[in-house]
Amino acid sequence: MRVLILGGDGYLGWPTAMYFSRKGHEVAVVDNFNKRKWEAEVDASPLIPLPSLQERIRIWKRLTGKKIQMFVGDLVHERFVARVFENFKPDAIIHYGEQPSAPFSMIGNERAVETQVNNVVGNLNVIFSMKRSSPNAHLIKLGTMGEYGTPNIDIEEGWITIRHKGRKDRLLFPKKPGSFYHLSKVHDSANLEFACRIWNLRVTDLNQGVVYGIETEETQMAPGLQTSFHYDDIFGTALNRFCVQAVAGLPITPYGKGGQKRGFLNIVDTLRCVELATQNPAKKGEFRVFNQFTEVFSVNELAEIVRDAAKKMGIDAKVKHVKNPRKEAEDHYYKPVHKELLKLGLKPHKLSEVLVESMMAKIIEHKDNIEDEIIMPRVVWEKKKT
Ligand SMILES: NC(=O)c1ccc[n+]([C@@H]2O[C@H](COP(=O)([O-])OP(=O)(O)OC[C@H]3O[C@@H](n4cnc5c(N)ncnc54)[C@H](O)[C@@H]3O)[C@@H](O)[C@H]2O)c1
Repeated sequence: MRVLILGGDGYLGWPTAMYFSRKGHEVAVVDNFNKRKWEAEVDASPLIPLPSLQERIRIWKRLTGKKIQMFVGDLVHERFVARVFENFKPDAIIHYGEQPSAPFSMIGNERAVETQVNNVVGNLNVIFSMKRSSPNAHLIKLGTMGEYGTPNIDIEEGWITIRHKGRKDRLLFPKKPGSFYHLSKVHDSANLEFACRIWNLRVTDLNQGVVYGIETEETQMAPGLQTSFHYDDIFGTALNRFCVQAVAGLPITPYGKGGQKRGFLNIVDTLRCVELATQNPAKKGEFRVFNQFTEVFSVNELAEIVRDAAKKMGIDAKVKHVKNPRKEAEDHYYKPVHKELLKLGLKPHKLSEVLVESMMAKIIEHKDNIEDEIIMPRVVWEKKKT
């Protein structure tokens, strides 16, 4: 297959590019290095310095003899996206190329606009390019479980049949997202469903949980092939922050009561999920949604897993709850369905203390790079007037 990976310099994009290339597919990546720019702007460098995309592609070629084609440019520029599609003619497009952080989108007016323009306009350009030059290609678009929020009912996979006043219809599942970033993904989903309906495109929207882990078979093949690891308040996830806090001798800090529940998955399973989606494409005109996660944890459970794993490594970490910078339910019902990817053959890699210990071992190697001051929350959802 000819696989086009949008956001190929990113945490998930780069390991995906190597995964598909190793399996013998023709792979091209697109990126404009927005993420590296944003990291610099908000002081949120990854823990382990990352070689440039060009360098990683060269290392991959030397090691495997396989070429990964690269297009440098902005998905927000319509002509650039059109040229990439006309030139590469993809069979499958895996779209990771968006601003991925809720706190970044909540910094203020400018970042909220930047996030939604970047994500929504970029996605629209992809849809239009597909329609013009690759109408039979399959788009696999990364959404997030955060699109649904935490409703007090079971969350279905994208669609729900509603009976209302004696009639019924199959509708997109109602969304109640918790940040302008998550809202950008909701807008993307609505645009994609519309495009499938009117232009017969084929799309799989992957509502992904929080991904953890930095090791895949390919990232471990040679030094320099690694992916990014963020532990700051803007781009880092709770699990990453907690592991770094334990290693740095700082308290592990759940936000608020810590009863917030979310779906999680190993990066290795992300790769398998996108592969399963490409191998079993959506039908023409179908807007298909999978809930892509393997386990649910509360923030408190994550904190305990990290504390216990640290203890086994001789680190005595304490858990200290801090004021929640976000507006979110801290104790709630959470039961999302996630059957479709399992039906297609996903075999989940569960989160274990062993994995957390191996993450911490990696962090210990780079302990000198830890910047304590970028871990605690710098962005609040609502500034209280004093
Ligand atoms: N990592 C997770 O836990 C997670 C969970 C759920 C959903 N997602 C979604 O998966 C996707 C990938 O996430 P990630 O963690 O790899 O993010 P990332 O920021 O590491 O990667 C995204 C890449 O896209 C590029 N990009 C952004 N805007 C672009 C533009 N306009 N033109 C060209 N390139 C652009 C960035 O430079 C970056 O390299 C995102 O859409 C994210 O919202 C991620």
